[in-house]
Amino acid sequence: MATTEQLQERIKELKKSKKAIILAHYYTRPEVQQVADFVGDSLQLARAAQGTDADIILFAGVHFMGETAKVLSPDKKVLIPDPEAGCSLADSCPADDFARFIEAHPGHTVVSYVNTSVAVKALTDIVCTSSNALQVVRSIPESTPVIFGPDRNLGSYIKSMTGRKNMVIWDGACHVHERFSLEAILRLKSEHPGARVLVHPECKQQIVLIADRVGSTAALLDYARKSDADEFIVVTEPGIIFKMQEACPDKRFIPAPPADSSCACNDCSYMKLITLPKIIDTLENELNAIEIPEEVAKKAIKPILRMLEIK
Ligand code: 13P
Ligand code: SF4
Repeated sequence: MATTEQLQERIKELKKSKKAIILAHYYTRPEVQQVADFVGDSLQLARAAQGTDADIILFAGVHFMGETAKVLSPDKKVLIPDPEAGCSLADSCPADDFARFIEAHPGHTVVSYVNTSVAVKALTDIVCTSSNALQVVRSIPESTPVIFGPDRNLGSYIKSMTGRKNMVIWDGACHVHERFSLEAILRLKSEHPGARVLVHPECKQQIVLIADRVGSTAALLDYARKSDADEFIVVTEPGIIFKMQEACPDKRFIPAPPADSSCACNDCSYMKLITLPKIIDTLENELNAIEIPEEVAKKAIKPILRMLEIK
């Protein structure tokens, strides 16, 4: 059986011969992040997909991320290592149901989180990610009512931060971020009183309320890098700890445990489907190319570009 280093070497050769780049999300396995040309949060990855001159983008992440890359780079081949790598949050918002929700709220501006299918984006006025959701909602006139979907936790957080009353929120959630236990985090905090609590806004409100920093994966990493604290309780998918530890070798990062003691950690099982052998097979045989019907892509690109215009 090939070693990790041998698999990584083969991927480097394939990237060269195929003029391919690998974009990876922070939640992927460490050995996958190591072979990526760029590792980032959803917004950074969308910008990287928009800016590349490679022939092939291999997206080491979940399906909606590959779709966003394809919408932004329609002439490139966008390959995903495992078509089963979905997202429970995106799945909590089927396009037909979301269309009915929009119909029931006429006159609203529709803001959709990037964790949605391309069909949902095609129904949307402006897309957002966890790193720019506040700016996106603030860019909409105060008097205009807003639909926010699909994450109820991010939606409630944005609603409380903006003080916006005229915002209706779709009732969706991510199974990973909903699983964290407030009690377990408070217990960890009492064992590590100097630790800062880093929380992704997809977590429930009671957890967001005890955070020292709420933000996207990239924002949490940046906070850890700049902070004078030595210990951090990380309340998001633990894949991010690889880059945190790399950036701050002398600091300690403690993954927050899930409420359900039957699962040992809070891995996103979809992100962890991306493995080195699958990346090799996908690049060698140019498998799992994302295809999006032209009329859907034409509609979906507008709200994505509108988001990318917001600095
Ligand atoms: P970020 O955009 O913060 O990286 O989050 C993506 C995601 O899927 C969170 O669960
Ligand atoms: Fe989707 Fe949650 Fe996994 Fe993020 S952590 S990709 S929101 S299932």
